[in-house]
Amino acid sequence: LKNLLELSKQILTENDRGGYTIPAKGLYPYQWNWDSALVALGWATLDEGRAWQELEMLFSAQWEDGLVPHIVFHKPSPTYFPGPEIWGSVEQPMGTTGITQPPVAAITVRKLYEEGVNKELAMQKAKELFPKLLAWHRWFQTARDPHGTGLVATLHPWESGMDNSPAWDEPLHNVPVDPIPPYVRKDLGHVDSAMRPKQEEYDRFLTLVYRFRAVNYDCTKLYFLSPFRVTDLCTNAVLYRANLDLRWLATELGENEIAEEIDGWVEKAHKAFDTLYDAKAGMYKSKDQLTGKLLAAKTSAGFLPLFARVASAEQAASLAATLERWLDCVKSGIPSYDPEAANFEPLRYWRGPVWAIINWMITDGLRAYGYEDLACRVEADTYELLVSHGISEYYNPVTGAAAGGKLFSWTAAMCLAWLS
Ligand code: DGY
Repeated sequence: LKNLLELSKQILTENDRGGYTIPAKGLYPYQWNWDSALVALGWATLDEGRAWQELEMLFSAQWEDGLVPHIVFHKPSPTYFPGPEIWGSVEQPMGTTGITQPPVAAITVRKLYEEGVNKELAMQKAKELFPKLLAWHRWFQTARDPHGTGLVATLHPWESGMDNSPAWDEPLHNVPVDPIPPYVRKDLGHVDSAMRPKQEEYDRFLTLVYRFRAVNYDCTKLYFLSPFRVTDLCTNAVLYRANLDLRWLATELGENEIAEEIDGWVEKAHKAFDTLYDAKAGMYKSKDQLTGKLLAAKTSAGFLPLFARVASAEQAASLAATLERWLDCVKSGIPSYDPEAANFEPLRYWRGPVWAIINWMITDGLRAYGYEDLACRVEADTYELLVSHGISEYYNPVTGAAAGGKLFSWTAAMCLAWLS
C-alpha cells in the first residue's frame, strides 16, 4: 500500500499543471470538470490548500449563465481532439467547451469543509465557492429542466461522462450525422481502439458539438434543439446528492432561504426518481426524453441512486441483490455494464470496464443503506485491481488487466482518499 500511495502522490504531482490537474498526459491534457472535483479529494490528503485551488481553477471558467464547462482549455495542447478551435469558444475569456458534466463539486466542497484540518481556510473557501455552486445548480434547474419535471436533461454523451454507455446506443443512433468537416481522432494515438468509442459514435458526438456551436451554446435554446436528450442516471444521482450537500452548506453558512429553495428541488427530484425505477429488473434506468422510453441497458449508473440516497429501503435491497449477481459473474467488480448482456465488452470504455470512481460512489451508497459486507467486497475488489495492475483509467473486470490511459489522476485520487 505504501508504494501505491507514493505512486498516487507522484501521479497527481506530475499531472499538476499549476493549480489544476490533467486527468492523464497526452490523452486528456486539460482540466476536466468532474475529474477535477474527484481529484481534489485526493489532493486534500496531501495539501488542503491545493485541493481548494483545484476547484477554484475550475470555477474560474464558469460562464455568466451559471454553466461550469466540461473542459477548461487553460493552455494549448496539440495532443487532444476536439480542442478549443472546434468548440469555437476561443472568444471566451478562457477557452472552454459549451457543455457540462455530472456536478460533483458541491459534494467535494462539503467533504473538504467537514473533514479539513484548516477550518479557517475551509470557511473562507466554502463561502467563496458557495454562490458559484448555487449558480451552477440553478442553471441545471432552468436550462436543463425548463418544464420543472424534477429531473435534468443531458444533451451530449460527453456530458454524462460515460460517453459510449450502452444506454446511449438508441438515442445516439437517432442523431443524424451532419456533413461535418473531416477530422482526425487523437485518442487513438494514445489508447488502443478496442478500448475507445467507435467511429460512428464520434461522428455523432461531433455533429452535436457543431449544432450547439451554431447557436453559441445558448442555454435557452440547446434543450429544445438537441437531437440527443436523455435523463441520465449518473448526472441526476450526482446532482441529487450534490443538492443535499449544497443544502447542508447553506445551513452552515446561515443561508436559510437558499436552503428552502434547494429543498424544493430535492423534493421534486425525489418523486421523479421513481419514474426511472424498473421494478421488474430490480434496477434504475436512464430515459430517452425524446421518445419518453426508459432505456433498456442495465449499467453501473443504475446503482448510483444509492450514492444519492434517493432509493427506498426496498429499492436498495433489489439493487444490492442485482449487484451481487453482477459481482459473481466477474473476477473484479463493478463492471460498468451488465456482464450477462450479449453485447458486454470488458475492454471498451463504459461498455464493461471497472472504474474506481464509480466503485467509490456505489460503496458510499451501500454503506449508507447498511450493506456493509457488499461495500467491503467492492472495496476489496478495487484495492486488488490497483495493487496488482497499477493506477489506470479503468480495468477489465474479467481479467483485472489495466486499460485506457495510464497513470490516471482520478484513480490515483481514489487511492489516496478512499483506499488508504
Ligand atoms: C473524451 O474526449 O474522450 C472525453 O471523454 C470527452 O469528455
